[in-house]
Amino acid sequence: MFNKRTIRDFPSLNGKRVLMRVDFNVPLKDGAITDDTRIRAALPTIQYALDQGASVVLMSHLGRPKGVDPSQSLRPAAGRLSELLKRPVQFANDCVGPEVEAQARALKPGDVLLLENLRFHKAEEKNDPDFAKQLAALGDVYVNDAFGSAHRAHASVEAVAHFLPAAAGFLMEKEIKFLGKVFTDPEHPVVVLLGGAKISDKLPVINNLMSLADKIMIGGGMANTFLKAEGYELGDSLVEEDAIEQARELLLCCSGKLMLPVDVVVADAFSNDARSETVTVGQIKPGWRALDIGPHTVEKYRHELRNARMIIWNGPMGVFEFDRFAAGTRAIAQAVAESNAISIIGGGDSVAAIEQAGLTDKITHISTGGGASLEFLEGKTLPGIAVLPDRR
Ligand code: 3PG
Repeated sequence: MFNKRTIRDFPSLNGKRVLMRVDFNVPLKDGAITDDTRIRAALPTIQYALDQGASVVLMSHLGRPKGVDPSQSLRPAAGRLSELLKRPVQFANDCVGPEVEAQARALKPGDVLLLENLRFHKAEEKNDPDFAKQLAALGDVYVNDAFGSAHRAHASVEAVAHFLPAAAGFLMEKEIKFLGKVFTDPEHPVVVLLGGAKISDKLPVINNLMSLADKIMIGGGMANTFLKAEGYELGDSLVEEDAIEQARELLLCCSGKLMLPVDVVVADAFSNDARSETVTVGQIKPGWRALDIGPHTVEKYRHELRNARMIIWNGPMGVFEFDRFAAGTRAIAQAVAESNAISIIGGGDSVAAIEQAGLTDKITHISTGGGASLEFLEGKTLPGIAVLPDRR
């Protein structure tokens, strides 16, 4: 149940300055934005505030800079946002200080100001209350629409909400509603698809979803650790030795729910040009490594996806960045898109697979948060959500 106050709950925004945390942590190449999904995702909340007669002060982080780093400036995002909103977007060269305060004070209804990268100040990641107070001075109310950063207890996400009337934006609301449905209103069969390189990243999700899910299907590098725990020889495949015991315990308790690859595409080097072949999981030779799931595994997983009524997918089925080992992930993306289930996808590579295949409109909800959606599914309290007041 989503019970947080939202931007709709403010009695009036007319003539107010809305200080809005967005997640404009977008990929850049040579100073140009290569994917503006996160900027587009924030538009409904920004537009709503403007339509209500407010001015908007936007703040975000970009990358993980160590101090001021012009190559990680948010300036390109101001340009892109201006194109999308079809109105000028002012840019502030810093996110706190007298100059920015003067810029924020001068805003008129309908004006938009984007602040420079919050992470140019160490105080942001320290959740520093003084820094948060300086941010709060730039607005009359605070709105958090940055679901992708909700798992970070940072000043613009957590501390600032103590200094202004606070509420969630529409993107935050939508993300919590869809991801929360997994726990509050699951539609069975619930099928969870997990991939990616490391099992240690996903063990908390497996533990949290185990009782709720009907099937948990494993792919990617993380499958190797499970296969090792089952006693298979994995050659040079990536295996997390430290996690084998936990994998074994999960297999003992829940082998009926956990599905592992039955065949894999192996290569004699970690390279797109390596020699490769498809083998059953018991036939991986020394010196070879598993880099994708095989066709029989795809078929087994496809069968479960066809019957599912809810699908949660996080992480690729193989080394998706190498075209030669992307077939498993692509086939799974296709199967998720074809299913009639409610489908919820998070995590960069699984989202990229859906986007590359042009299947985004076939998915019920694509989360804008990688780490945040994972922590949500782990059942953790996300500081950026917890700090927002409940609706009365
Ligand atoms: C993300 O890209 O997942 C968010 O923007 C959070 O970024 P961070 O992992 O650098 O905090």
